Parts: sequence; structure tokens; C-alpha cells
Amino acid sequence: FHVDWDIMTAEKGGFDHFMLKEIHEQPKAYHDTMLGRISEDGRSVVLPELKISAEKLRGINRVHIVACGTAYHAGLVGKSIIENLVRIPVETDVASEYRYRSPIITPDTLVIVVSQSGETADTLAALREAQRNGAHVLAITNVVGSSVAREADDVIITLAGPEIAVASTKAYSSQLIAFYLFGLYWAQTNGTQDEATVANILAAMQALPEQVEKILAQAEVIKGVAESISKHDSLFFIGRGLDYAVAMEGSLKLKEISYIHSEAYPAGELKHGTLALIEEGIPVIALITQEGLYEKTLSNIKEVKARGADVLGIINEGHEAEVAKSTDRQFAIPRTLPLLTPALSVVPLQLLSYYASLALGHDVDKPRNLAKSVTVE
Ligand code: AGP
Repeated sequence: FHVDWDIMTAEKGGFDHFMLKEIHEQPKAYHDTMLGRISEDGRSVVLPELKISAEKLRGINRVHIVACGTAYHAGLVGKSIIENLVRIPVETDVASEYRYRSPIITPDTLVIVVSQSGETADTLAALREAQRNGAHVLAITNVVGSSVAREADDVIITLAGPEIAVASTKAYSSQLIAFYLFGLYWAQTNGTQDEATVANILAAMQALPEQVEKILAQAEVIKGVAESISKHDSLFFIGRGLDYAVAMEGSLKLKEISYIHSEAYPAGELKHGTLALIEEGIPVIALITQEGLYEKTLSNIKEVKARGADVLGIINEGHEAEVAKSTDRQFAIPRTLPLLTPALSVVPLQLLSYYASLALGHDVDKPRNLAKSVTVE
């Protein structure tokens, strides 16, 4: 009797790669990151770990979100979450830019640093720069006891569990959950959202793990698209609003592990230059999940389709019939609130990059030239 396994396979829990395992762990990561942070009646957020007083929080008049790579992309979604829920202006910056651009930081600025590892050199330097200027620093990180966690004034730990693959997946999506929780907590504190609205968003958040499961069950659909895009040298991701923020993450993921060039573009900006690159057969991944921007994005999809693009639409369930007229293929995500869609729409994009990398025979978990944690400048 012979059992064919090794320790790495065992750690991968039956998956071929850590990345695929981590993509599949997202329902649990969402659940764990929310656990104990929503009141029993489901009507409010409780973040007992926060030291910042309600008075201090009410006095904050500016937010800077600072991070690198995928964590920066989570910060772009974080900007929308906070501006939407708390109505305070937010800037999101890449840490290597922020630290050298002499940003305007006052004691009434809240600086949120986002880092899976908590050890990224530029993010840590940005944190120190913010503290030197008197700002209160909140860290969103996945690693308890990391440098960022130790030095920040406040910490929200994401409970994604260890992330091994260089390409970040469950850490990104758990960072979104942390932003939703913090945004709602702050909205409660400042009174910018009423209790019913908060309860409604929390209920929708608690449905996310099951909705991600539904997406994962359709991975084969994405695999087919990935195999076809792996034959191309270049492609585009387009979207508006939060869809654009997710498009940026989808594009980075694809570049990072498949080495295919891609660009994420705000759909409404295409005709200011980039549309010139759309030609017969070029793949375009179009995200169209933001209800308020639906008609506008649809007209942009029609523009690329008219120039011969091969369009994959990432759409909301229920829009199949109408969007089908302007796309070649579509992938529907379950219905949620517009603000929460990034927590779902990113999943097909993660799968797309995974399967494209696989089709090209690359080392999915350890892409060339990259390290999991960038501890040097
Ligand atoms: C993600 O897929 C990348 N490997 C990379 O962009 C990463 O998110 C970035 O280096 C930041 O890392 P951190 O979250 O550990 O700070």
C-alpha cells in the first residue's frame, strides 16, 4: 500500500498551489475577520481593540491611506468606503510616493497604513513619517506582532490566516472587510449613517462568504476564458468607480503571475487616448457591477466591442440578457450592495490570473523577480 504525498502537498490542503488554496479560503477569511466585530443583534460594529477615542475620531478631518501593491488597491476601495459612509475626504497613496512628497499631515489627520505582512519597508517609513507629523496611525495588517502592528497607534488585524503565495488574494479581500467594518464603526461614532443603514450593510456583509462560495463553484467558466487570454500579449481591464479600483487589482494580479501585459483603465477615460489601442480580437475584461454607473459603463463596453474587442463582462446576476448583446462572454456575481461588490468581483479576476499563469506553465506561487515581503526600499 503506497500513499503518494509530501509535506508541501499536505500544506496545500489538496490544492495544486497555495494561491488556489488561498483563493478558496476567502469565505473563511471573511467570516473570521467579521467574527466578534458585529454586535449580536447585527445592528452595529464593535471594535474593542481600537484605542482611539470617540472624541478624537469625531475631530478627524482628513484621511490618508498608504500602502503598496495590492494593499494599495485595497486602500483605493477603502477611500470610497470611508468617503461614502463618513463623508470625510480621503487620499490614497502609494507608500513610496507618500513618504517623499511632503504630504500635508496634521494632528487631525488619520493615516491608515495597509500591509499584509506588516514589514513592507516603504509602508513602515510612511507610518513613521505620519507619526513624526503628529497623525494618529491605524494599521490594517494580517500579521500580529509585525513591525507595522507594533508601531501603529491602533491596529485592526485581518484574520485571513497565513498567506504563502506571492500573489495576494485573501489578504486583499480581508482588508476590504476591515475597511467596511471600520467605515461603519466610524459612521456610527460620527452619526453619519442611521442604525437601519448600518444594519442593512452588516446583513449584506454576512452573506458575502456564501456568495464567494457560489463564485468559486463556477471556477471552470473562468478557466476557459483564462486559457484563451493566455494566448495574447496584452489586454485591458475597464470599469468605473469601484469597478475601476478592482480592475487595477485584477490587472496587477495578471501581470504578476502570468507576465501578460495588461492595463486597467477608467472606462469613461478610454476615448481620451487608450481607445486607439483597441483592435480586432484584443481581450477586454469589463467590470459592470455599479448600479449607478451601469448605463455609462455599458456604453463604454459598446465602444470597445464596436472596435472588435473580445469582451468578458463581469456583471451582476440579472443583467445577463442585456449585457450579452455587447459582450462575448460573461461572468455573473451574486447580488449585493454596490459598496460591497469589490469583495465579490475580485474573485473571478484572481481565478483568471491563476488559470492564465497555469496555462502558460509559470511558477504560480513564486513569480519571477518578486518576493512575498519587500523589506528593502
Ligand atoms: C500582491 O499580489 C503583491 N505581491 C504585492 O503588490 C504586495 O501586495 C505588496 O508588496 C505589499 O505587501 P504588504 O501587503 O505585505 O505590505
